[in-house]
Amino acid sequence: MRPQWKTIFVSGGAGYIGSHCIVELLQQDFEVIAVDNFINSVDENGDAISLKRVRQITGKDVKFYQCDLLDTEKLDYIFSQHSIDCVIHFAAMKAVGESMKVPLLYYQNNLIGAINLLKVMKKYKCQQLIFSSSCTVYGNPKFLPITEDHPVGDEITNVYGKTKHFIEEMLKDVSTAEEEWNIICLRYFNPVGAHPSGLIGEDPTKPFTNLMPFISQVASGKKNVLTIFGGDYETVDGTGVRDYIHIMDLASGHIAALRKLEAEHLKWKVYNLGTGRGISVLELVKAFEEASEKKIPYTIEARREGDIYAMYANTDLARKELNWKAQYTLKQMCEDFWRWQTMNPNGYKPNDQTSSNSS
Ligand code: NAD
Ligand code: WQD
Repeated sequence: MRPQWKTIFVSGGAGYIGSHCIVELLQQDFEVIAVDNFINSVDENGDAISLKRVRQITGKDVKFYQCDLLDTEKLDYIFSQHSIDCVIHFAAMKAVGESMKVPLLYYQNNLIGAINLLKVMKKYKCQQLIFSSSCTVYGNPKFLPITEDHPVGDEITNVYGKTKHFIEEMLKDVSTAEEEWNIICLRYFNPVGAHPSGLIGEDPTKPFTNLMPFISQVASGKKNVLTIFGGDYETVDGTGVRDYIHIMDLASGHIAALRKLEAEHLKWKVYNLGTGRGISVLELVKAFEEASEKKIPYTIEARREGDIYAMYANTDLARKELNWKAQYTLKQMCEDFWRWQTMNPNGYKPNDQTSSNSS
C-alpha cells in the first residue's frame, strides 16, 4: 500500500476555485500550503482575506505565502520548507477577452508559471499534480455530451484557452518522458455558486464576462438589464446552453482526483468535471429569479462573437474511475451565489463592512 498523503501545495489558493477546494482539503484533514500573488485582497499582514474566511469556516489553519509563480527563488524556498505530497495547480489568468488583448502576458503568466512549478516539483521529487484545465480545450463541440476523447485544440479561438491546451500537452509530454510524473488534468465545465456559508465566493470586483455574476448584478440592482447573447440557437429555447456545476461539487472532484493519484500511478489522465446536464441562459435566469426572489429584466441581442451554442459534459469517466458525481442542484447554485453576493456586495474589498466584520 502507498503511504497516505498529508501535505498538499495549492497554487492560486486565494482564488475562487482554490479557496473552496482548500475548505474540502482541510475538512479531509490535509495540511495545505497555499501560494497566490493576490495583490488586491490581502490584509495589512499580507494574508489573503479569502483564506482567513477559509480558516473561519473550517476552524483549521492554512499556511499562506504571497508568491508569484514567476518568482522562482521564492518558489524554491517554499518547497525547501515543506515536504509536499501533491500539487494542485490553479494559478492562472483566466479572462478570455483580456487574453486576446495582452497575449504575451497570458502566455508568460500561465505557461511560464506552469513550467516553473514543474521544475521545482521535479527538483524536490514531488511529481504528483492535479491541473485546472477547462472545457474550453474542446473548442466547438463536434458531438454532445462531450467525452474526454473528444478532439482538443481545434478551433480554440482565444489565448486563454490555448494556454490550457498547451499546458495539458506539456504535462502529457513530461509524463511520457519521465516515469515519476503522476498527473490528472481536470476539465471544468462552468463553475458557479459559492460556499453555503456565504463567506467565500468569486470576487465580483475582478473583470468578468460570465453569465451568473451578470445575472446576479441585475438581481442586486447594480445593473439594469441582462443582455442575452443570441436567442436563435438550436437549443430548447434558442439561448446558449452550458453545464453549470456548483463550486463545492468541483471542490469535491479535486479530492476524488487526489485520492485516485494517491492510490494509482496514472502517468497522465484527463477527467471532465460537470453535471452532465445542459442548462440554457433563460433556464438559469428563471432559477436565479426564484432563488433571489428578484425580477431579472433581460433583452435578447445578437450572438456573442465566437460563442458556442451548447456545451455539456459526459461525466461517466469521473463517475466510474473517481467515484465522483455532482450532487448540488441548480437551485442551490443560485441560492449560494446569491447569499455570497448579498453578504459581500464588494467581495473581499477591505472597505466592505461585511468583510472586516467577519474576517
Ligand atoms: P481566480 O482568478 O479566482 O483564481 C486564480 C488565482 O491564481 C488568483 O487568486 C490569482 O491571483 C492567482 N494567480 C494567477 N497567476 C498567478 C501567478 N503567476 N502566481 C501566483 N498566483 C497567481 O480563478 P478561478 O476561477 O479560481 O480559476 C482557477 C483555475 O481554474 C484557473 O487555472 C482557471 O483557468 C481554471 N478554470 C476556471 C474556470 C472558471 O470558470 N472559473 C473554468 C475552467 C477552468
Ligand atoms: C455562458 C452562456 C453566453 C454573459 C467561459 C469561459 C471559458 C470557460 C468556461 C474557463 C453563453 C451567455 C453570458 C452575458 C449571456 N472558463 N451569456 N449574457 O461561454 O461557457 O465560457 O466559461 O476556462 O473559457 O470563456 O461561459 O458564462 O461566458 O457564458 O447571454 O452577459 O451565457 O452567450 O451562452 P462560457 P459564459
